[in-house]
Amino acid sequence: MESSKIGLIGLAVMGQNLARNIASQNFKVSVYNRTTETMTSFIEAHGSDNLVGQADLKEFVESLESPRKIIVMVKAGRPVDLVISSLLPLLDKGDTIIDCGNSHFPDTIRREKELSEQSIHFIGCGVSGGEEGALKGPSLMPGGNKKVWSELEPIFTAIAAKDFSDKPCVTYLGNDGAGHYVKMVHNGIEYAVMQMMAEAYDVLSKSFGLTAPQIADIFEKYNEGKLQSFLFEIAVPILRQKDDLAEGYLLDKILDKAGQKGTGRWTAIEGMERGVDISTIVQAVNARIVSSRKDFRTELATKYDNPSVGKQLPTEALEEIIKELESALYAGMLLSYAQGFDLLRAAAEEMKWDLNYAEIARIWEGGCIIRAQILNTLHAAFEKSNNAPLWTIEDIVADLQESWGSLRTVTILGAQSGAPMPSLSAALSSFEGMSSARTSANFIQGLRDSFGAHTYKRTDREGTFHTEWGN
Ligand SMILES: NC(=O)c1ccc[n+]([C@@H]2O[C@H](COP(=O)([O-])OP(=O)(O)OC[C@H]3O[C@@H](n4cnc5c(N)ncnc54)[C@H](OP(=O)(O)O)[C@@H]3O)[C@@H](O)[C@H]2O)c1
Repeated sequence: MESSKIGLIGLAVMGQNLARNIASQNFKVSVYNRTTETMTSFIEAHGSDNLVGQADLKEFVESLESPRKIIVMVKAGRPVDLVISSLLPLLDKGDTIIDCGNSHFPDTIRREKELSEQSIHFIGCGVSGGEEGALKGPSLMPGGNKKVWSELEPIFTAIAAKDFSDKPCVTYLGNDGAGHYVKMVHNGIEYAVMQMMAEAYDVLSKSFGLTAPQIADIFEKYNEGKLQSFLFEIAVPILRQKDDLAEGYLLDKILDKAGQKGTGRWTAIEGMERGVDISTIVQAVNARIVSSRKDFRTELATKYDNPSVGKQLPTEALEEIIKELESALYAGMLLSYAQGFDLLRAAAEEMKWDLNYAEIARIWEGGCIIRAQILNTLHAAFEKSNNAPLWTIEDIVADLQESWGSLRTVTILGAQSGAPMPSLSAALSSFEGMSSARTSANFIQGLRDSFGAHTYKRTDREGTFHTEWGN
């Protein structure tokens, strides 16, 4: 039997769809799963000359063309190490393992190092797009040895989504963990964008008493303008979904506890570790943490009487607020990207990754969860400015200058309405701090010097100073 071009291990939703995508592009793929029944029923449903299943790991490895290329698409963490360990005795020098799961980048760096010592290549490739993306075309973020990547490129290029110019949403990002790092930051930005959308939903509901389908009409209009994106597209039917188990709309019955799998938290920690302000992302993670404390929140809600709740604004104000909110969301999202790209820049410098920010914005234009019109704006801005920091690029400066006031208006409205806006208000504070020549840190320095003799510098002369305060 003809050997397969590539193998894939891990047949949960992402692995199944990625395998079908590869086969549909005319690359023969062998698949294997720890639980054999999953593989058998998958092959019964989708097997073909190009998509073959193996119940035995050794036979799976032997079914592959040499040097072998094996995608691992299993649960992130220990399962990836277990799969690699089980493969190692069956592989030959020069074979390649490609981890397409959401692995934490330090694990990818470690695995690449350990495997290269055994002459096995390792590529860490971020995949975004959920199950539909995996099937119809994901955004792919590979990192690892560039020469090895070039051998995989034809397959990954064929299965990737397309950007706004119909080019594949895949680009080589850099050594070892670069691909998984970029995917992690992508997910962090995804947290911030989703949180800002939730804040918009909340303020419309709390300030004007709008129902879910009324908010759907507003979001549908937003999706026709500069906020056009996959997330606004899917938000509209979510807001309009009727409950089939009870009266009313389903969204109103969904428990207000948001889950998380770790990539947002990893990004937030990275921001702290590298000294980069990514407060929109950090606050989005915090908002999920607050949401998870449902019992405690419910108890506190009986103890405190929020003076803002129930004070709805006159509907005449709504039309203007809808426009302000659109502009505020645009500013907030631009700022969450500016922060995310700042983190990428800091990591690239320290890790010696030659990241191309225009290319990163481009490969996020299609396939992935944050795909949006705004990414085309960022792609063009980075290209025009030769990858300057986003905040400094002329077109972005003009956009932020124009939408800044709306961001302030909307965060004030949130405060007045009892609608918390952790990510939008973090965007405003961060922007106002970053665009101020002078902050309040002089006051912090005074306090630090007073209680701990930490010294300070002056604005009007060179040197380091300490004062006996109060003397
Ligand atoms: N779901 C998404 O939208 C999405 C999007 C992007 C990236 N990802 C990432 O893609 C990867 C796969 O995601 P998923 O949602 O399809 O599946 P998942 O639920 O994360 O993982 C399930 C798969 O992992 C296998 N597995 C778990 N423990 C194992 C072990 N100890 N040894 C061997 N195999 C083991 C399972 O095999 P059994 O069938 O035998 O249990 C199954 O094939 C994850 O890293 C995920 O974070 C997911």
